[in-house]
Amino acid sequence: MHLTGRTILITGGSSGIGRGLAEAFHRGGNHVIIAGRRQALLDEITEAHPGMHGLQVDMQAPEAITRLAEDVQSLFPDLDVLVNNAGISRLEAWDRDAIDIDTSLSIIETNILGVLRLTAALLPTLARQPNSTIITTTSGLAFVPRFNYPTYCASKAFLHSWLQFLRHQLRHKPIEVIELPPPYVQTELAGPQQANDPVAMPLADYIAEVVRLLGEPTPADGEILVERVKGLRMAERRGIYPDIYANLNQA
Ligand SMILES: NC(=O)c1ccc[n+]([C@@H]2O[C@H](COP(=O)([O-])OP(=O)(O)OC[C@H]3O[C@@H](n4cnc5c(N)ncnc54)[C@H](OP(=O)(O)O)[C@@H]3O)[C@@H](O)[C@H]2O)c1
Repeated sequence: MHLTGRTILITGGSSGIGRGLAEAFHRGGNHVIIAGRRQALLDEITEAHPGMHGLQVDMQAPEAITRLAEDVQSLFPDLDVLVNNAGISRLEAWDRDAIDIDTSLSIIETNILGVLRLTAALLPTLARQPNSTIITTTSGLAFVPRFNYPTYCASKAFLHSWLQFLRHQLRHKPIEVIELPPPYVQTELAGPQQANDPVAMPLADYIAEVVRLLGEPTPADGEILVERVKGLRMAERRGIYPDIYANLNQA
């Protein structure tokens, strides 16, 4: 995809992968708008990057998503890239007497419904531009799930399936649909310890590889795969799914 002079909205731009992409796209000469709940972080990041804008949103609140879309349409009518990146990941135990269904529902609200609501609200704006791109962050765990993150993994598998439909239905419009499934990356997604986990891919390395791949012609399947995620993504195709699943889910 062409990666300069674009107007880019990134949800979950206040930390981790979203913030990393926002800063890289800003450096690359794009107009970047970041969205998230933590206003103090949005302010800190935008003050450090003149020209970048921040908009507060709670992706679990439908009315807040509607407001975000309206603000974007009126303030940034040239929007031509939407990055659906906000997401949460939570441990779940379904073998208890009392199941914490609220946790499961909050994952579905954020990771699935938030993406659908915002994409639906902004598609008319994206469709008005000569060329647009929708990038959605899924996960390597969409392809091989971890047993203690059931709703999280299922939410990302949902998005993988949904993105294939979206790519197909938009094929006659100048709207590119890209899936970004990260491997395990050093962010605070599952808690502060993840940011320093030596097993996880360093965030800067992940961002650099993604930005390089995004600058190349988009693969026909629309998937931007860094080397470190290919083990999970290709497990089924390579016929080694049971081994990879067992390795990922050691008791
Ligand atoms: N790091 C990994 O290992 C990994 C692997 C595969 C996929 N991913 C995916 O990558 C994406 C980014 O995660 P990350 O690793 O960068 O973790 P992160 O640092 O925790 O980032 C998550 C982002 O989502 C935003 N967010 C969460 N709930 C929100 C809500 N209700 N409303 C608005 N914004 C919300 C957060 O902003 P606020 O808290 O300010 O709202 C934050 O900016 C997620 O979709 C995640 O599933 C990450």
